Amino acid sequence: MRVDIITCLPDILKGPLDESIPARARRKGLLEIHIHDLREYAEGKHRQVDDYPFGGGAGMVLKPEPIFRCLEAIAEQGDPIDEVIFMTPDGEVLDQPMANGLSLNKRLVMIAGHYKGVDQRVRDHLVTREISIGDYVLSGGELAAMVLVDAVARLLPGVLGDASSALTDSFQDGLLDAPAYTRPAEFRGDAVPEVLTSGDHKRIDAWRDEQRLQKTKARRPDLLEKRDPSAD
Ligand code: ADE
Repeated sequence: MRVDIITCLPDILKGPLDESIPARARRKGLLEIHIHDLREYAEGKHRQVDDYPFGGGAGMVLKPEPIFRCLEAIAEQGDPIDEVIFMTPDGEVLDQPMANGLSLNKRLVMIAGHYKGVDQRVRDHLVTREISIGDYVLSGGELAAMVLVDAVARLLPGVLGDASSALTDSFQDGLLDAPAYTRPAEFRGDAVPEVLTSGDHKRIDAWRDEQRLQKTKARRPDLLEKRDPSAD
């Protein structure tokens, strides 16, 4: 997959993508990330990327011209673009099925706005999807784009060592994860549940299923309501 990210703050994006799963995906050649500094597509001595909102109001609005120019330049490279995603708190809220669906694409573009907003003509003519990472407001779309890249990158075939681990994650079947333990079997008087050291995999699976169900009921009953009954 190739992901192009358009931003005014390219430095924010560099660290997280050079670590952990996205870095592994890039090393294996399964993920290509191109970061585009919007300022390079702005004109004039000051390379202005934003301006005051027509009609007044607080904050600055990203101008349309640099974004159109940047996207046109990006579109000339590589495969056809599948989705142009604008990261915004008023988009559809990201969840696991959405990440699964996006991971099937070959090419995504993400626009991370860092000001009050972006000129509506960008959203009307370029953007094909608007995504929020949750019901809270960040100071810019960069961190949200990172979250989306991470959620999608780990789903790309071959990225995770154990082929089944992305599928057994919390949320993949609408339930939270069971508690996990490692050695030592007893720590400061607190022992690991007996079943996990029994070697009886049928019992272990049944215990984990029950733990997942109880945890989900207690913490996220909304997930049980949304759940696809065929997941069982
Ligand atoms: N930009 C600012 N807040 C955001 C959010 N919650 N999700 C996506 N992009 C954002």
